[in-house]
Amino acid sequence: MLELDKIIQGDCLTVLRTLPDDCVDLIFTSPPYADNRKKTYKGIPTGRYVEWFLPISCELKRVLRPEGSFILNIKERAENGERQTYVLELILAMKKQGWLWTEEYIWHKKNCYPGKWPNRFRDSWERCLHFTKQKKFKMFQEAVMVPMGDWADKRLSKLSDTDKIRDESRVGSGFGKNVSNWLERQYAYPTNVLHMATECANRGHSASFPVSLPSWFIKLFTGERDVVLDPFIGSGTTALACSKLNRHYLGIEAMKHYSELACEAVEREGDGHKRTGSPDKQMSPRLL
Ligand SMILES: C[S@@+](CC[C@H](N)C(=O)[O-])C[C@H]1O[C@@H](n2cnc3c(N)ncnc32)[C@H](O)[C@@H]1O
Repeated sequence: MLELDKIIQGDCLTVLRTLPDDCVDLIFTSPPYADNRKKTYKGIPTGRYVEWFLPISCELKRVLRPEGSFILNIKERAENGERQTYVLELILAMKKQGWLWTEEYIWHKKNCYPGKWPNRFRDSWERCLHFTKQKKFKMFQEAVMVPMGDWADKRLSKLSDTDKIRDESRVGSGFGKNVSNWLERQYAYPTNVLHMATECANRGHSASFPVSLPSWFIKLFTGERDVVLDPFIGSGTTALACSKLNRHYLGIEAMKHYSELACEAVEREGDGHKRTGSPDKQMSPRLL
């Protein structure tokens, strides 16, 4: 029986091949961005990126439940003064593999380092590509609603006549709004741009993302005790988010040092007591 809530040290393709079909609800991961950090962990040349990733995404598709989601946090690097195209090529190749490219979320890194480059400005965003296996998938939109904010008090305090009816777009776009619908509402749905600071604490890994990033997607695409897989788990951030949100996790990390770091982080900062002794700590037989 496959145990949950653990970090497996090994190559993700090899480990993924040992997992049963349809066994995870969400895959959230940030793979090496080609050879961006080849000095700290193994990189992949940009020209071979798609060919390297496709066997992995094939296995990810097999282990993801039909109504599950796959969020791929990635950004194309710039080489010789030009942005490379391997992420765009990967999206097209994954569509051919049978994935639906359902949405693209933008992670705006609101505290990115200052700096100067001769041909561009500092890079303050990354992609979070949302792939699914089918059009109908699990999504809990209410779990990520945001407070309406102060503007609502002023804007909604004096409604005009047009605010009280559906006001159709004057340019014929087909869009319209009834502002009065927002009276009394405390929360609104967010956009697909996430404004989150990068990880500021030293987690012992040069590419850790903040816990807030996987947490947001975990809340959006899973329920309590669902299973989240991160096949490139690094310092264990996704596992930590799962532990705090009462979800099961499965992490894979090639480097022994990082896998140990990840286990220590969950042990130290996680909220494991919630699941200790819970009857579904191991995958139920229906998954095997
Ligand atoms: C971008 S980092 C992930 C960082 C992570 N999100 C965090 O918050 O710490 C990518 C990780 O994938 C690992 N890795 C690279 N190739 C791998 C492979 N084939 N299988 C498993 N892990 C791999 C690297 O060692 C690195 O720790």
